[in-house]
Formats: sequence, structure tokens, C-alpha cells
Amino acid sequence: MYLKRKFSVTLCIVGLTGICIAATSPGAKDNGYKNLKVLPKNISKKKLQEIMIDDFEDGLGVNCGFCHAEQKGSHKLDYASDEKPEKEIARVMMRMTGKLNKNYFQTGHAMIGDSTLIVTCSTCHRGQPRPDADNIK
Ligand code: HEC
Ligand code: HEC
Repeated sequence: MYLKRKFSVTLCIVGLTGICIAATSPGAKDNGYKNLKVLPKNISKKKLQEIMIDDFEDGLGVNCGFCHAEQKGSHKLDYASDEKPEKEIARVMMRMTGKLNKNYFQTGHAMIGDSTLIVTCSTCHRGQPRPDADNIK
């Protein structure tokens, strides 16, 4: 009798932990990104690279190092670092671009990089980091 009861308690705990594990990992593979504040934390590697290259590099006519700081003592970029102010400006621009689409073009909850966006980084930047009037060629 005693043994039987102990057995069912163990099963119950195993069952509960099973549920806990299932609830904390929603099937998304960990992409290793450490510091995403605007983009979805579970974004795929492919999608993030598309945004960094097509929207940011090409849209502004800059390299990765325009926004991303170098690691100390090396020329390798530390992508998670927020040391360069350009990276934080880019976040402000991402939020602004999101709002422009949602509030004025009824695109719903589209994200930077989605093909349904009407306003993108290139709409204003057109391959230039500063789309101010005196920069336009
Ligand atoms: C115009 C600025 C800008 C340029 C250019 C840019 N990035 Fe980024 N990058 C960002 C911002 C902003 C974030 C953080 C987004 C967020 O907070 O959701 C980011 C995040 C990342 C991350 C995720 C880091 C982490 O662990 O959180 C990687 C990797 C990355 N960028 C790679 C690149 C590569 C590679 C290039 C060049 C092909 C590039 N970026 C060009 C602005 C830029
Ligand atoms: C509605 C127009 C508009 C859109 C859309 C826009 N930008 Fe900008 N952005 C500007 C203007 C204007 C400036 C210059 C501001 C200034 O002179 O202080 C600027 C400046 C910047 C800078 C600072 C450049 C520097 O040399 O200091 C970064 C970085 C930037 N934008 C990134 C982005 C990214 C990334 C996107 C897309 C997610 C984007 N912007 C979308 C208008 C826009």
C-alpha cells in the first residue's frame, strides 16, 4: 500500500515537470542572439541576416561596422554590444518605421523586413546614412 502511493506521487511529479518544460520552450530553436529589443527574440538566423543586409546595409549604404562596435583588441564586430550610438538610433528608426506602416498604411503588425511594409528604411534613406536635404545628390 505504502509503495503503491509513493509510486503514484512520483508519476505525478514527472507529469507536472513535463508540462513545465513544454510550456517554457515553444518549439523555437535558440538562435543565440543576446540583445534584441525590437525584433522578435526567436527570429530565425536567415530573417535577421536579410534585415541586416537588405534593409540596413543596402538601405543606408553602410557596412555592419557603421552600427556595430568592434570587440576590444580585435577588428571582429561584437554584434550584441550597444556601444555605438548608431545602433540605438537604428532601434528608434525601426520603431518609427513600424508605426508609420501600422498607423498610416494599415499594414497591421508587420515587422521590419516583411514584404507587406509600405515604408522601409530605403523610402527615406535611399542608400544614404543621413537623408537630410543637403545630402541629396
Ligand atoms: C543601421 C544599423 C545597423 C547595420 C548597418 C547593421 N546592423 Fe545588425 N543590428 C542593428 C540593431 C539596431 C540590432 C538590434 C535589433 C534589436 O534590438 O531588435 C542589430 C542586431 C544584430 C545582431 C544580433 C546581435 C545579438 O546577439 O543581439 C546581429 C548578429 C547583427 N545585427 C548582425 C549584423 C550584420 C552581420 C550586419 C552587416 C551585414 C549588420 N548587423 C548591420 C543595427 C544594424
Ligand atoms: C521617415 C523617414 C525615415 C525612415 C523611414 C527611416 N529613417 Fe533613418 N533617418 C531619417 C532622417 C531624416 C535621419 C537624419 C536625422 C538627423 O539628421 O539628425 C535619419 C538618421 C538615421 C541614422 C543616423 C545616421 C547618422 O549618420 O547619424 C540611422 C542609423 C538611421 N537613420 C537608421 C534607419 C533605419 C535602420 C531605418 C529603417 C528601420 C530608418 N532609419 C528609417 C529618416 C528616416
